[in-house]
Amino acid sequence: MEAHENKLIAEIETLQNNFTQTTDKLIKDVKRQDKIMTRSDKRQQKEYDELMALKIEIEETQREVVFTMGAIGESRSKETGNHVKRVAEYTYLFAKHYGLPEKECEMLKQASPMHDIGKVAIPDAVLNKPGRFNDEERAIMDTHAQLGYDMLKSSNRSLIKMASIVAYEHHEKWNGTGYPNQTAGEDIHIYGRITALADVFDALGSARVYKQAWDDEKIFKMFKEERGEHFDPKLMDIFFDNLDEFLHIRDTMKDVVQD
Ligand SMILES: [Fe+2]
Ligand SMILES: [Fe+2]
Repeated sequence: MEAHENKLIAEIETLQNNFTQTTDKLIKDVKRQDKIMTRSDKRQQKEYDELMALKIEIEETQREVVFTMGAIGESRSKETGNHVKRVAEYTYLFAKHYGLPEKECEMLKQASPMHDIGKVAIPDAVLNKPGRFNDEERAIMDTHAQLGYDMLKSSNRSLIKMASIVAYEHHEKWNGTGYPNQTAGEDIHIYGRITALADVFDALGSARVYKQAWDDEKIFKMFKEERGEHFDPKLMDIFFDNLDEFLHIRDTMKDVVQD
């Protein structure tokens, strides 16, 4: 009896030992797994951080390229100084008050400076001609909208795509008498309608080699006449309803006058 009991106790002890060993091993395994997980979590985090940094880098490069292209277009045209920068700010303001989502407003701000990029392909003889264009020169000049569109339209990048629309439609008029397609009303993309107004507002208010700046009274009178003609009436209302904001941009981003 006693021997039997002893044997039983010994067996239980062995079992207990085995159990303890097994659980110890299990606990160790879990801990090791945990360490491995933490390490791979860290590695994954590092990879993620690197990817995010790369994404930001790419986006910033894209922004810079787009802006530089805009500046190239600007230098080819007769625009001066901060024209494209002010146009960028005006288009943002119009987009915001029109009710476009913030991201789209921000993108339009980046894309609108490209409106005249097509001018890089206009011959110097036309582009730099002092004085007025004859009909043939005017027709060549007007191709800059189509040319700009053709340069950018094949891109899959949303910002470049947006810029292609801006380049294409910034000379269309609400009443359908613009170019290159005589598109009218809301058939003109909102990016085109916005950039058209922002571009003209800035061009009129700035002095150029070949012309004086218009005074505000003259600009406002023309805008009221062109509401629903050249320009989207809703955007025209946004302009007058938020005039102080537009004038603030103009005042803070004046061209540096060089003597
Ligand atoms: Fe243009
Ligand atoms: Fe312009």
